[in-house]
Amino acid sequence: ATAEKGGYDHFMMKEIHEQPKAIRDTLSGRVKDGVVDLSQEISLTKEQIKGIEKIHFVACGTAYHAGLVGKTVLEELARIPVECDVASEYRYRNPIITDKTLVVVVSQSGETADTLAALREAKKQGARVIAITNVVGSSVAREADDVIITWAGPEIAVASTKAYTSQLIAIYLLGLYLAQVRGPKTAEQLSEIVNHLMALSTQAEDVLKQEKQIAQFARSMAKNEHLFFLGRGLDYAVALEGSLKLKEISYIHSEAYAAGELKHGTLALIEEGIPVVALATQHAVYDKMVSNIQEVKARGAHVLGLATEGDSELRKTVDEVIHIPKTIDLLTPVLTVIPLQLFAYYACVERGYDVDKPRNLAKSVTVE
Ligand code: G6P
Repeated sequence: ATAEKGGYDHFMMKEIHEQPKAIRDTLSGRVKDGVVDLSQEISLTKEQIKGIEKIHFVACGTAYHAGLVGKTVLEELARIPVECDVASEYRYRNPIITDKTLVVVVSQSGETADTLAALREAKKQGARVIAITNVVGSSVAREADDVIITWAGPEIAVASTKAYTSQLIAIYLLGLYLAQVRGPKTAEQLSEIVNHLMALSTQAEDVLKQEKQIAQFARSMAKNEHLFFLGRGLDYAVALEGSLKLKEISYIHSEAYAAGELKHGTLALIEEGIPVVALATQHAVYDKMVSNIQEVKARGAHVLGLATEGDSELRKTVDEVIHIPKTIDLLTPVLTVIPLQLFAYYACVERGYDVDKPRNLAKSVTVE
């Protein structure tokens, strides 16, 4: 019935459109006067926060991709060294964990077997564990020392969308909370970031308004069997998530590449007519990204570029452009992922596959 899908054809589409609300709800009550307050959810004292020597993000699938964003975000905000691992690797690789290690497990369901096992291993070795999860009372929530709930609401579609953006919000909140205690950013700098964070929900609505254009591009690309996503920095982390989304539901083979790495092999696969989705929202590496796009254009790629509002340059290099509203580079993943979710959705529909129940995949993997 479309009623339970809120009038949409599929849960995935409903959930994509619920993102502005999920973002708002995850922020709600956790920011006061430009300051992040997680004292309700995190029991670490100021001294303990100052004592953190490193952070490990551990997760699977889409939640792992949120952790990849988390690595850059927490290193930037709190200047603490961060690693990010897939849980099935982490639990078996004998990672270096001490009582000064903060392990952040990210899990929509809170029931993923590998993530839970990694959490237990980390605790056994003395780490402090924070869980970011969407399910109150889940195994991960119960076993972690502290929990930050993502208020995305139930996610039904196998392909995760609003859970991911809510996980990002939780990560920003955590990063800001630690940074408020640790420095080196000033209170003013941090509250400036908080202001941008609070604007994301409305900006996400603006991104959703470009649905028609994205649908058109997706339909025109849907016959291809191979596709590339390119980005640098945080754009690369989002490229990985966009590529996963597309593979999960449309069964188009795609690869996400750190754009600067392309020339070390993969460029050989770029041939006439191959679709490339190129994210170019990170100012520090913008020029480098544009040269990477020129490299694939020169080999005949058909490029959809993702740029920031006000960027009138990228249009000259790519075939089509989608603009995301202006925010700071650190926060773009919340906005750039939305066109990629829509892209995967429309490619899937065009190819005639079941959006909400892709073959061979489960919403939650509770066995190893
Ligand atoms: C499954 C789902 C993915 C999800 C992953 C982790 O593989 O198909 O969409 O990202 O599990 O799930 P979790 O509930 O731990 O976030």
